[in-house]
Amino acid sequence: MQKIAIIGAGNVGGQIAAFLIKEGPVDVLLLDVVKGLAKGKALDLEDCASVLKQDCVIKGSEDFSLLKDRDIIVLTAGMSRKPGMSRDDLLKNNSGIIKDISLKIKEYASGKIVLVITNPVDLMTCLTARITGFPKNKVFGMGVSLDSARFANLIREELKVPVTSIEAVVIGSHGQAMVPAPNQTQVSGVRIERLVSEGIITKLARETVERGASIVAHLGSGSAYYGPAAAACVIIKAIINDEKRVLGVCAYLDGKYDIKDLYLGVPARIGKQGIEDVIEIELSENEKKQLLGSAESIRGQLANLNV
Ligand code: 2OP
Repeated sequence: MQKIAIIGAGNVGGQIAAFLIKEGPVDVLLLDVVKGLAKGKALDLEDCASVLKQDCVIKGSEDFSLLKDRDIIVLTAGMSRKPGMSRDDLLKNNSGIIKDISLKIKEYASGKIVLVITNPVDLMTCLTARITGFPKNKVFGMGVSLDSARFANLIREELKVPVTSIEAVVIGSHGQAMVPAPNQTQVSGVRIERLVSEGIITKLARETVERGASIVAHLGSGSAYYGPAAAACVIIKAIINDEKRVLGVCAYLDGKYDIKDLYLGVPARIGKQGIEDVIEIELSENEKKQLLGSAESIRGQLANLNV
């Protein structure tokens, strides 16, 4: 059984553990600097596993040296958005947290797979990769698979079709510069552009970009966690089961899509080695232009990060 560490025992971290337990036997260590939080959640999650008749190992601790026997590290620690904040507003606070934790990951879990969830995820993934120095295929982020699922959900509502018939694609940054890609989005094999008007596609794309902020506004405090945790769980399972499944992740680009030396959301094949291949999909001229714009926005913010 592969051993997973989830750093940050808040809503996202706890919910990832709960989804993993539901899907089968797992060995999960929750880590958090807040005294008692990870331990308390671990005890509750052990009970949850017992209710679901799953033989799991669930531990909670504040001791980061326990990372040393872990195979996959999931990084969720950090502040979440409040109403009116963008993901980028979290940058200052969360970059400090991610720097500290990345040093601990480097010390105790050298060369292991690190999945970054903390926002702004494109920048935090890049920061984690730079500080740990781990191979680029082992450090990647969750973002656009959630955005793709959100786009699919909005298409499902608009067209009244089963979500299983929808292949929705969103690439780019997990932020305001994300790029819903209707050119690659299909319902039962038919391109969305042939099924609804350009105006409707533009509306669905805009709602996809705003979905996270809309959830934050309704909640009043904190941000989405069921969706992010489900998306993380799908990626973790693809690693554990060596599925070679193509999923949207924040991956290191070194020339594909004409983007060099940058982390950005694109489809990639995920297996036990982490990212096994970055998949270059065909984009319309407009989508390509937007993706390069997304890359430039991330590059600009990275320059201010000082790593
Ligand atoms: C979201 O999009 C929290 O980034 C996460 O809801």
